[in-house]
Amino acid sequence: MNATTLVLGGTGKTGARIVERLTARGVDVRVGSRSAEVPFDWTDRSTWTAALAGVGRVYVSYYPDLAIPGAVDAVAALTEAARDAGVQRLVLLSGRGEEEAQAAEQVVQRSGLEWTIVRCAWFNQNFDENYLLEPVLAGEVALPAGDVPEPFVDADDIADVAVAALTEDRHVGELYELTGPRLLTFAEAVAEIAKATGREIAFVPVPLDDYSAALEAEGLPSDLAWLIGYLFREVLDGRNASLADGVQRALGRAPKDFSDYARDTAATGVWNA
Ligand SMILES: NC(=O)c1ccc[n+]([C@@H]2O[C@H](COP(=O)([O-])OP(=O)(O)OC[C@H]3O[C@@H](n4cnc5c(N)ncnc54)[C@H](OP(=O)(O)O)[C@@H]3O)[C@@H](O)[C@H]2O)c1
Repeated sequence: MNATTLVLGGTGKTGARIVERLTARGVDVRVGSRSAEVPFDWTDRSTWTAALAGVGRVYVSYYPDLAIPGAVDAVAALTEAARDAGVQRLVLLSGRGEEEAQAAEQVVQRSGLEWTIVRCAWFNQNFDENYLLEPVLAGEVALPAGDVPEPFVDADDIADVAVAALTEDRHVGELYELTGPRLLTFAEAVAEIAKATGREIAFVPVPLDDYSAALEAEGLPSDLAWLIGYLFREVLDGRNASLADGVQRALGRAPKDFSDYARDTAATGVWNA
């Protein structure tokens, strides 16, 4: 049986936390990313064989998003390469309310390998480890988001569930839908961060077209600008405005609340202007 666990996106928001947790448990871990010791690149299949050599379990985090055209094909190809390499188990990071992500889930579920699906709401960490950090630091978060609430989920909870799925057999064949314990609008989330930091941070709703144009003007690659527009247009239309019990079901405990995330993150100083 292959002993190594490959963590794709192993330097990213969920992947780095999973690598840290597995390493602490003494699991033999390989980071899968373009900058890793054994590089893995979703866009270059010639890198996959070496990355999968000796691997028994894979955490599959696609980049940038399963909604991007070609993502489902890439996951299907990876699934096949994994099977050929002797991989036994896949744990797929997926997104809630995205048709393409649900197609990728089906690819993994039909792979014949052991699988767990970790289907997530928006990550809290988008506010401090991703594209919302800069606006928070600037004191104004302008987004094409209105009154539709989102049950933001913490990357630490996602990592805990993924590690359980990678290391324990009872999660095989489970689809865990992960949300936080509370629905918040983006305005409310920003207000929580303002409160935790003691800073004034305004939330400004903007039309989606203006927002996408501004992202491109700032030099964001057009596929990422498209993706962010897609997420606000399609996924934030109310379809995901409900809580799910995946963290409780997988771990037997409640998920982390956004205000605890805001307090802990403020304490690191990352939001100091
Ligand atoms: N953010 C959210 O709110 C959210 C919610 C639900 C689901 N998701 C899902 O989470 C996944 C990851 O999204 P994220 O925004 O959180 O990103 P992330 O994990 O922070 O992404 C960065 C990681 O991807 C690696 N990477 C970048 N380009 C790559 C490539 N071409 N080939 C291989 N690895 C590459 C990076 O390492 P290198 O630079 O070294 O390659 C890094 O490890 C997506 O599939 C998304 O659908 C995200």
